[in-house]
Amino acid sequence: MPAVVLIGAQWGDEGKGKATDVLGSRVDYVVKYNGGNNAGHTVVVGDQKYALHLLPSGILTPGCTPVIGNGVVVDPSVLFEEIDGLTARGVDCSRLVVSANAHLIASYHRTVDKVTERFLGSRKIGTTGRGIGPAYADKMNRIGLRVQDLLDEKILAQKVAGALETRNHLLVKVFNRRAITVEEVVDDLMSYADRMAPMVADTSLELTRALDRGATVVFEGGQATMLDVDHGTYPFVTSSSAVAAGACTGSGVPPNRIDRVVGVLKAYATRVGEGPFPTELDGEAGEELRVRGGEFGTTTGRPRRTGWYDVPVARYAARVNGVTDFVLTKLDVLTGYETIPVAVAYDVGGVRHDEMPMTQTDVHHATPVYEEFEGWSEDVSGARRFEDLPPAAQRYVLALEELSGARISVVGVGPDREQNVVRHDLLGR
Ligand code: GDP
Ligand code: IMO
Ligand code: MG
Repeated sequence: MPAVVLIGAQWGDEGKGKATDVLGSRVDYVVKYNGGNNAGHTVVVGDQKYALHLLPSGILTPGCTPVIGNGVVVDPSVLFEEIDGLTARGVDCSRLVVSANAHLIASYHRTVDKVTERFLGSRKIGTTGRGIGPAYADKMNRIGLRVQDLLDEKILAQKVAGALETRNHLLVKVFNRRAITVEEVVDDLMSYADRMAPMVADTSLELTRALDRGATVVFEGGQATMLDVDHGTYPFVTSSSAVAAGACTGSGVPPNRIDRVVGVLKAYATRVGEGPFPTELDGEAGEELRVRGGEFGTTTGRPRRTGWYDVPVARYAARVNGVTDFVLTKLDVLTGYETIPVAVAYDVGGVRHDEMPMTQTDVHHATPVYEEFEGWSEDVSGARRFEDLPPAAQRYVLALEELSGARISVVGVGPDREQNVVRHDLLGR
């Protein structure tokens, strides 16, 4: 039984939630290892639609244990709001375990996130405003608060005092905001302590023991390769390790336990927030794809920027993540286009680049080299076998597979759990 890491291979919102959910009842644990409630993973089951932010998508599978790993930043107010919302809809959240080492998002992280963005003006990142970056910054600065601190109020108060020492200078003197008191932060966080306590666990130990027993564990990445703090389009990235390697640091499970890496890709491309996006479509063409694909953010409701499939990005993701299988989603959205452009390389100042350019300057100046593929007009949403797809759609998928550096094992043809063409079993050896 394998350990599978599932990551976003573009700029997020590729359909990771659905891909995780599709693995279903054969999975024993689903682990979120990075990010926080900046993520928005949508799962559609019949007429029910679930938007998951902090909870891994495995929460929807009865019998599966959802795990929030040490690499996650946890906003306790969001956590319990999400648990309550799902419980009210009949989803059992009682098995959730949260790493004692996961960091907490406090009110001042959200404040600093928002004021920093305002301060940056035209250089803003377009963050989700959830306090993600400031919480990770505190972690790296060694002034972060962790889930285990909720179990010891005295320690928590000391840590909050330490963190606020510098934060308050920043808030008052630079950002012109009021100072935050230690008491208000501690009172707020401690109001969640009793509810949190029974969920707190040594999740590294629990997961390693589960793997020893032969359990199937899926590590569900948040965000995506191009938003990864090391490997993405820095500084227009999130603040965590969204690539496959992040599954190990973010869970305490070592690299030699990982059997598979599944990269989730859209049949085109989208991005939310600022930063380079070489195949972006402007104006009406971009709007058409946005409307066809329903490309509006799950977390912030922002319209997503849209563009064509980008081969250098897919190949880069295959390489830095060690992708063994791709899940290609939203093929159905392309139905009705007469021809479909695909960026097979970039042109940077007259020089062809088959790989992602090395420097930020070159990425900003990259213009796509397009190849046109023949479209199809037949409805593909009922296809379940590859042969059910119209010949032109089959050729499109096979061409992307050939160009992108790993086999395409599953093709999504609609938002529902059932709407997939499965070519290879993602959990098979
Ligand atoms: P995630 O953040 O990677 O989990 O992706 P999101 O949930 O933010 O965005 C993906 C959107 O596409 C969601 O609304 C899904 O329900 C939807 N979706 C996923 N796969 C497919 C597919 O194959 N076809 C269509 N039409 N929609 C899909
Ligand atoms: P899922 O898991 C798409 C983007 C934000 C912004 C940048 C930094 O649903 O794919 P942050 O709040 O993380 O500091 O914002 O990253 N971003 C996402 N874009 N999908 C996501 O998650 C994202 N999470 C963050 O728009 O550009
Ligand atoms: Mg999303």
